[in-house]
Amino acid sequence: MLENVESLMHRYVEEADAYALSLYEKVPRGKRLRAKLILRIAGENAEAERLAAIVELIHAASLLHDDVIDEAMTRRGIPSINATHDSKSAVMLGDILYSKAYSELSRFAPEIIRRISDAVVQLSAGELLDVEYAKVLQPDEAKYFDMIYKKTAVLIEATAASAAALAGKPTQSFARYGKNLGLAFQIIDDVLDITADAQTLGKPAMADFREGKTTLPYIYLFEALDEAGRERLRGLYRKSLTEEEAAWLKEKMRESGAVMQSITLAQQLGRQALDAIAHERNPALERVITDMIEREF
Ligand code: FPP
Ligand code: MG
Repeated sequence: MLENVESLMHRYVEEADAYALSLYEKVPRGKRLRAKLILRIAGENAEAERLAAIVELIHAASLLHDDVIDEAMTRRGIPSINATHDSKSAVMLGDILYSKAYSELSRFAPEIIRRISDAVVQLSAGELLDVEYAKVLQPDEAKYFDMIYKKTAVLIEATAASAAALAGKPTQSFARYGKNLGLAFQIIDDVLDITADAQTLGKPAMADFREGKTTLPYIYLFEALDEAGRERLRGLYRKSLTEEEAAWLKEKMRESGAVMQSITLAQQLGRQALDAIAHERNPALERVITDMIEREF
């Protein structure tokens, strides 16, 4: 059960350090997507719940670090730890969550330890690329996909495969499911940055381009624009937009089909995730994908 996963996470942090626990309690809870995947693949048993708590702690640690890196003052609608406390505390809390997760992971079979650890290496490499690519406008689709695969999809891929390994199910199909789910999830996150408002997002809207991130809709927009349009787009890169500039961008995104093209691609990836597990006949896992791709943008 998801509540058991929450209690385990709480217990692990409590075992790690009392002050860390007081900070951890201020971290907003996410959707626990990774925990849900594990329980839906491996079944609701104690081992699956432990793995789910470990993966969620690693994910929480990565977001604590990510908000420091992105200088993000809110996460899920409430101030981030780097905002309420400071970056130093956020980094160290992340380190504690991450190290405790590893300590608990060491009780698992070598195959699972390996899958999760290798994923965290790639996750960090992906974040490093994200930082590097945010320095200049980067309308390069291959680079974008390589980066989001590492930054987001790899951990979901390893999570799904590890859960399958726990349950004696085919790891390859679940890895493919997790990878495509992760890619679709990140593209949708990047689309919502443009189409949703700050209240829905729980963080400022249109923040990616200002932070230097040339996400997929911007790549497609760049490809669609003429030279004058590209010049205007370059001029807005890494800038706080005026209302007029934001309206121009949104209009061009709509008119060029860049947003629609990105959504279509995310939906194709979602369908590939569904294909990968079609033989499993697991409606709960299918729903993760359909809820994600059949929504309002
Ligand atoms: C969110 O991306 C960030 C990630 C998915 C990964 C962050 C990874 C690290 C900081 C690596 C280090 C982690 C550990 C535990 C060693 P985003 O900024 O595009 O999304 P957002 O809008 O949710 O902030
Ligand atoms: Mg971020």
